[in-house]
Amino acid sequence: MVNDYSRILNEGLRERVVPADVAASWIENGMTLGLSGFTRAGDVKAFPDALVKRAETESFKVNVFTGASLGSDVDKMFAEAGIISKRLPFQADATMRREINDGAFHFVDQHLSHTAEMLRQKVLPKVDYAILEAVSIKEDGTIIPTTSVGNSLAFAQHADGIIVEINESQPRSLEGVHDLYTLDQQGSRDPIPLVSPEDKIGTSGIQVDPDKIIGIIFTSQLDSPSTIVPPDQDTRLIAGHLIDFLKEEVEIGRLPQNLVPLQSGIGSVANAVFHGLLESDFENLSVYSEVLQDAVFDLIDAGKVNFASGCSITLSEEKMKQVFSNFENYRDHLVLRPQEISNHPEIIRRLGLISINTAIEMDIYGNVNSTHVRGTKMMNGIGGSGDFARNARVGIFVTKSIAKDGKVSSIVPFVSHVDHTEHDVDIIVTEQGYADLRGLAPRERVELIISRCAHPSYREQLYDYYQAALERGGHTPHVLEEALSWHIGYEKEGTMQKLVRA
Ligand code: COA
Repeated sequence: MVNDYSRILNEGLRERVVPADVAASWIENGMTLGLSGFTRAGDVKAFPDALVKRAETESFKVNVFTGASLGSDVDKMFAEAGIISKRLPFQADATMRREINDGAFHFVDQHLSHTAEMLRQKVLPKVDYAILEAVSIKEDGTIIPTTSVGNSLAFAQHADGIIVEINESQPRSLEGVHDLYTLDQQGSRDPIPLVSPEDKIGTSGIQVDPDKIIGIIFTSQLDSPSTIVPPDQDTRLIAGHLIDFLKEEVEIGRLPQNLVPLQSGIGSVANAVFHGLLESDFENLSVYSEVLQDAVFDLIDAGKVNFASGCSITLSEEKMKQVFSNFENYRDHLVLRPQEISNHPEIIRRLGLISINTAIEMDIYGNVNSTHVRGTKMMNGIGGSGDFARNARVGIFVTKSIAKDGKVSSIVPFVSHVDHTEHDVDIIVTEQGYADLRGLAPRERVELIISRCAHPSYREQLYDYYQAALERGGHTPHVLEEALSWHIGYEKEGTMQKLVRA
């Protein structure tokens, strides 16, 4: 295939086109690489392949910083090749997860809005190379990102050198969809001038000195499709309860008819909730989120969502074909921003978002664990859930009330790891119902959470625990020696059910 040099408008830069294996040969042991990519979208593809190939004959390790999880099995290949020294801020790959949990390398699980700030503060190691997927490079060296922005702007600004991977399969019509805004140093920073999801406040590409672009690679590999499973009975029920809650908020007059901008996290449950809005009466909605999944495009198609702001577009195979073959229809309804802007506390608080994220487990007081299975094993990472939940107008967490065929209760006496404290959790929703925890003291929450959200097969056990805890007293009563006994019971006997274990 002949490389499409018309995508490099700066003629001088055309001389910097190299095969991927040449760019990979520039990487030295101990370097830090800032890779584009956010939730399987807009990641570089040819460069990681070449780097992994190099590892077949050479031994080296690098730090890999990204926007979020990578597609094209890059995280899997990196983990298998053993070339990672440190990885941040998020991943979602089964092989990488196993290696992290085996202690093969360090994983820093970070709020997604924090990475760019930490680079600016020079808390993180200096980025040696930013390696960024692009639609094109303009005359002045501006790099036009593809289906995600993620941390690419920050990597480009803080790296010593930039390697651009032009992806010919990414439509040029993506140009104009991005909005790149740079924050100044803390202490000399103006308010971010964004007051509505559709506001554009920056530039259409990543502006860099062309001399900083040391190499250009071509690829035509498509983004990996998302792995979201379609809604099932439970996730439909969760969506239904959540929509009932929103309707009641409108009736009471706490929310306007068209709600407020919505954020929805990754995962099948969160996607199903957005699908639920399709069948609701809500109209003229807007989205201010990070990942824009299939359901957001369905809502745009249905005329229910007028505008969606995100930092990546992550779609199923079928939806990808539909959206990118008609991208002109969506362009005016979308913007892609850096993740520190899509997830910025200042904007989330200003816009007053409804934020919906998925939990692994929750406890009877409303603390949420989003990341660690039984307190120790990393699942994916906190992602943007903390950025949003803490600062949203309404912070909602959803989960199925049971997991592992009912052997695990997702409502437990005490979460085995805390990502979102009771102070950041407003509403919890399971397929059983929802509990509105706003303004409630710990003892007021317990009855609501157990009766509305816990699975019937675990309610009695939860009440028993709480009764025993009440005898000990306290503002947040617990029987500390029993608090994690459900998790220990599952580890030892394969179930949290006391009756079965007895
Ligand atoms: N204990 C143990 N395992 C549990 C569990 C619990 N209480 N609840 C769920 N699980 C397991 C499921 O069984 C499933 O395991 P499997 O992969 O072996 O089948 C896995 O967790 C995923 O659960 P699923 O029901 O498929 O949910 P999901 O795809 O919606 O993902 C999270 C749920 C929590 C893992 C995911 O949303 C996440 O990583 N969240 C944190 C990041 C985040 O919120 N980002 C938002 C902004 S991007």
